[in-house]
Amino acid sequence: MPDSLTVTDNRTGRTYDLPIENGAVHATAFNAMQVTEDDHGLMVYDPAFLNTASCSSRITFIDGDRGILLYRGYPIEQLAEHSTFLETAYLLIHGELPSPSEAAAFEHDITIHTMVHENVKSFMDGFHHDAHPMAMLLSTVGALSTFYPESTNIYDEEQRRISINRLIAKMPTLAAFAYRHSRGLPYNYPDNDLSFAGNFLSMMFKMVEPRYQAVPEIEHALDVLFILHADHEQNCSTNAMRGVGSSHPDPYSATAAAIAALYGPLHGGANEAVVRMLTRIGTLDRLPEFIAGVKAGKERLMGFGHRVYKNFDPRGVVIKRMADQVLSVTGVSPFLQIARELEKIALEDEYFVSRRLYPNVDFYSGFIYQALGIPVEMFPVLFAIPRTAGWLSQWEESLLDNEQKIARPKQVYLGAATRDYTPMHERGVSRPQVLAS
Ligand code: CMC
Repeated sequence: MPDSLTVTDNRTGRTYDLPIENGAVHATAFNAMQVTEDDHGLMVYDPAFLNTASCSSRITFIDGDRGILLYRGYPIEQLAEHSTFLETAYLLIHGELPSPSEAAAFEHDITIHTMVHENVKSFMDGFHHDAHPMAMLLSTVGALSTFYPESTNIYDEEQRRISINRLIAKMPTLAAFAYRHSRGLPYNYPDNDLSFAGNFLSMMFKMVEPRYQAVPEIEHALDVLFILHADHEQNCSTNAMRGVGSSHPDPYSATAAAIAALYGPLHGGANEAVVRMLTRIGTLDRLPEFIAGVKAGKERLMGFGHRVYKNFDPRGVVIKRMADQVLSVTGVSPFLQIARELEKIALEDEYFVSRRLYPNVDFYSGFIYQALGIPVEMFPVLFAIPRTAGWLSQWEESLLDNEQKIARPKQVYLGAATRDYTPMHERGVSRPQVLAS
């Protein structure tokens, strides 16, 4: 017997069999459940998509209970250990690990697109000196679409390839330019002899030396962080990328929308919040008071808990190991001891254990960025650089999916029924007073 769901609509007494495919019933199957012929059928109500699959995908798999994260089937731990960010980006976009010649060609294609048009510097210069780098990034990525009008040909495979390569390649350049602008420093051009992460560090930190050579451990740590952040299935920003992409704008505009979604403190900003929290705690002796405040519901322990991961965040495990490597080079962070003690207390405390709250990717990542000398306002930007590969692979998958259409959710309308317009002089005095107050 095929998998199915039998539903009785108690308003009419009619029974319906809905096929179950891949663990899901099709929401449109409920349309047939009408009370009268002219009603629009039953809807499913799911604010924030808590239990609604908006697409099928073959890119990223998460099993939150078992702490599993796979990109195209490969465990994140193995990619973090053996792969590079560029190879992982290729995997996300093309579905398979590259052969040696494919890897070399992809690296070449990304490298030759790292420069940005000189005009970008002019509009970057137009931002206020204290503009947030994430706001500068999202504006300049959106503006890239003005340089590449042919990128609107999204069903031309060649155009999609070029746009994807350009976006992955230019993101570190725009990110570093945003940082240099906020510091009042001259922009550094890309150095195409360096690795993806090494080039980014060079554009960020090169001063007067002829060539900036990052410390290998730091360059490696950044590359691993990029791998860990490259995709995370249907999160808020990926949903924005797919949703905006569904009306078929060019990919620069859709990516700008995804960056805007990532900018919000509920999404890309938690690592920044961890560092601010550790700074505020300041010393070990203040931990008990802080923990008591969290348990009393006064605030949250930032970097703990996850909507999906309820045992551990596999990315957090990799990052924790890396923190040691980074700090062995950069020197001990004043926050390491506080972070470790905080983690120890929380992992043993009944409040956190019973709620299944564990360190997530952000508990240590912000802290590593800080050890690398990256200012907190750049943390979400550091998230956007690698996530671009995930966004674009999801965007392309969505465009080529015959089941997808322009995203257009329904609503449950609770407003006024049809009523006639009342001329101003007939509306009485109470309503205008309310508006004026
Ligand atoms: N500190 C203290 N209590 C917490 C925390 C926390 N970090 N997270 C959840 N709780 C409590 C919460 O108060 C609630 O308790 P009660 O049942 O007594 O009301 C219970 O745990 C369940 O919380 P929830 O808000 O229903 O859980 P959620 O799955 O909706 O929230 C979360 C997930 C990540 C938003 C939340 O754990 C949180 O706010 N964490 C801190 C922020 C953070 O670190 N975010 C980064 C997420 S990882 C990055 C990414 O992958 O996007």
